[in-house]
Formats: sequence, structure tokens, C-alpha cells
Amino acid sequence: MATNRTFTMLKPDAVEKGHIGAILEKITASGFRIVAMKLTQMTTEDAKAFYAVHAERPFYGELVEYMTRGPIVAAILEKDNAVEDFRTLIGATNPADAAEGTIRKLYAASIGENAVHGSDSDENAAIEGAFHFAGREMF
Ligand code: RTP
Ligand code: MG
Repeated sequence: MATNRTFTMLKPDAVEKGHIGAILEKITASGFRIVAMKLTQMTTEDAKAFYAVHAERPFYGELVEYMTRGPIVAAILEKDNAVEDFRTLIGATNPADAAEGTIRKLYAASIGENAVHGSDSDENAAIEGAFHFAGREMF
């Protein structure tokens, strides 16, 4: 059964370009409630662990460099069908393939630097949320 929470990060490129406010506005206007949120920076160890599923991929090193080069906004979001609806809102991994009006279409530069993360399953949403937040930081 689908749960109603997902996990997101506004990635370093989105923060660098000053898009935090615009992206959060789009997220909340789309019906997501912010359950937890913070500005933080991942260490190399954090990013390697977070994206361990991609460890054998050719872009893994670049991905770890990118995700650690500056602050991110980490957040847990709540909505019915949160994981799937948030993936729809952010659009395809490659912004060139992303639907009009999606966050990646609007704010991502490339497949490597694509502005935002969204969990791909309920199980990963729970793991990723717990990776970044303590229970008392979730509302
Ligand atoms: P995310 O996990 O960040 O929400 O992205 P995603 O599910 O849409 O894509 P995924 O396949 O999980 O890839 C994770 C992140 O790795 C970078 N990437 N670079 N250079 C490349 O070919 C490439 N492919 C993926 C992106 O930052 C992608 O979001
Ligand atoms: Mg992914």
C-alpha cells in the first residue's frame, strides 16, 4: 500500500541559482505539506552512502562531487500518493525529456545537474527521510 510521504532534496545547483523559494512555492502549491526541512551540506561519505545504488555507474564520482559541493535543502513532504505525484511534479531525470511545467524542465540544466531529488519508492522515502532527520525534526 502506498504511504503518503516522500523525501526531496533541492540540489546544490538549485540553491546556488537562488531557486529555493520558487521551487518550494511550486511544491506547496501542488498540495504537498512540509513535514521536515533544513539547509544542510552532505559530506562525501553521506553522498556516497545516499547514492550507493549507483556506485558502479560511470557518473557516480561526478554525482558525489556535485551533491557535496554546496548546501542542499532536505525535506520530507506529505500528500496522498506522495512518491508518485512528486516524481510527476519534478519530471524526467534528464530535463530535456521532462514535461513542460515540471520542476526539472523549469530549473534543471542537465541530466547530471537536475535541481531536485525525489524518492523512487515508499521504502526509499522512509530510508532517505531517516537518513537526514531525527524523529523530533518531523512534524
Ligand atoms: P534522483 O534519485 O536524484 O531523484 O534522480 P532520478 O531518480 O531521476 O535519477 P537516478 O537514476 O536515480 O540518478 C540519480 C542522479 O544521478 C545523476 N545522474 N547523472 N550523467 C548522467 O548520465 C547521470 N545520470 C544520472 C542525476 O543527478 C540523477 O538525478
Ligand atoms: Mg533516483
